[in-house]
Amino acid sequence: MITANPFKQRKYPFVFALSVLLLTVAVFFLTKNAAVSRLDVVGDGTSFSDDDDLDAAMMKWEIWYDNVPHPKLVEVKKVQNWVRKSGDYFVFPVGGTQFKEGVDHYIEFIEKFKLQTLPTIKWGKHVRVVLDVGCGVASFGGYLLDKNVITMSFAPRDVHEAQIQFALERGIPATLSVIGTRKLTFPDDAYDLIHCARCKVQWDKEGVLKNARGKPLLELNRILRPGGFFIWSATPVYLKDEAHRKIWNAMVALTESMCWKIVAKTFDASGIGLVIYQKHVSYTCYEQRKDNRPPLCYHKQSLNRSWYVLLTNCISRLLVDSNRNWPKRWPQRLSSKPLSPSTNPDAEEAFNNDTKHWLALVSDVYREGLGINWPGIRNVMDMNAGYGG
Ligand SMILES: *[C@@H]1O[C@H](CO)[C@@H](O)[C@H](O)[C@H]1NC(C)=O
Ligand SMILES: *[C@@H]1O[C@H](CO)[C@@H](O)[C@H](O)[C@H]1NC(C)=O
Repeated sequence: MITANPFKQRKYPFVFALSVLLLTVAVFFLTKNAAVSRLDVVGDGTSFSDDDDLDAAMMKWEIWYDNVPHPKLVEVKKVQNWVRKSGDYFVFPVGGTQFKEGVDHYIEFIEKFKLQTLPTIKWGKHVRVVLDVGCGVASFGGYLLDKNVITMSFAPRDVHEAQIQFALERGIPATLSVIGTRKLTFPDDAYDLIHCARCKVQWDKEGVLKNARGKPLLELNRILRPGGFFIWSATPVYLKDEAHRKIWNAMVALTESMCWKIVAKTFDASGIGLVIYQKHVSYTCYEQRKDNRPPLCYHKQSLNRSWYVLLTNCISRLLVDSNRNWPKRWPQRLSSKPLSPSTNPDAEEAFNNDTKHWLALVSDVYREGLGINWPGIRNVMDMNAGYGG
């Protein structure tokens, strides 16, 4: 039965509900409303025609200058060609300083890795949900929209005061967040891929050989799903002076102890070194380590809680039946029950009920009945996301 009241109390208040809300909202837009492409968000909501695609490709989005009035930013960033003012708009020429050759080349480049034994990174199929750490103006996530990938971008601090606003204005999910002393507010196993291009996080913080080693990287390990990838594009990957070598060696020790495998180490088109790691899918590697450091977390440490919880120095447990068939490829994944809320015996039925409920409610009530002009709407906050329906 579809209730006509869209504000009915929801039944599934999972702790992680809020943390996935922006992603789920974006899922909705990409799948249900493909016509609302990224270009529609420009200015007053009018779409570009095909003829305009060339211009659009050169500029990759504009946002109204008056919405983000930070003239100093353009002045400061002039040399880097990161953002320019053009008429009434800010424009983002090549996607920021992280990507000298343009972020679109960078993304194609990553996809091109064909490795003998491993699946390639197939944007939009195996890799659907991405986290970009230290995101700048979130161009990486922005360009991945073209590939059917949802990226949550976060900046550890907003040095230029308007990065997150820029990202949201461009219609890209973004938030301020920091990997410092507390866990990120994301559930375990949430992301297919995590990306850090010169994001300046010291992953091996707190010393490799002490008990509390590499807490920031262990936190990434927690939110990365088994078999997921971590792309680290940074100077220690290729610069050979002593300081850089030291960081690289620390990363080697740390990632080996966590059973992350290097699947590629190379240079991107602009000559920056990058390394792609993959998280382990089973317990065998953990069990075979000579030294049980970092140890596996007690089970109760890893589920449910991520608000106001201190970073831990243990390896979070794998999902019980995590295997290579999970998650399903996009878009089948949208309607397959996620593994995580399965502690509830009715979980599958509840999930299916929820999916049906919101499918009907969104199409009958929200999209048709509320008189909302959806093409004019891009960023939505769902304050009780439940299963994300
Ligand atoms: C997760 O939260 C639920 C509801 O608060 C609780 O019943 C369950 O025991 C928790 N699970 C763990 C592993 O802490
Ligand atoms: C699913 O929906 C059916 C039909 O409305 C209902 O009888 C059942 O209790 C629901 N199950 C759960 C777990 O919510």
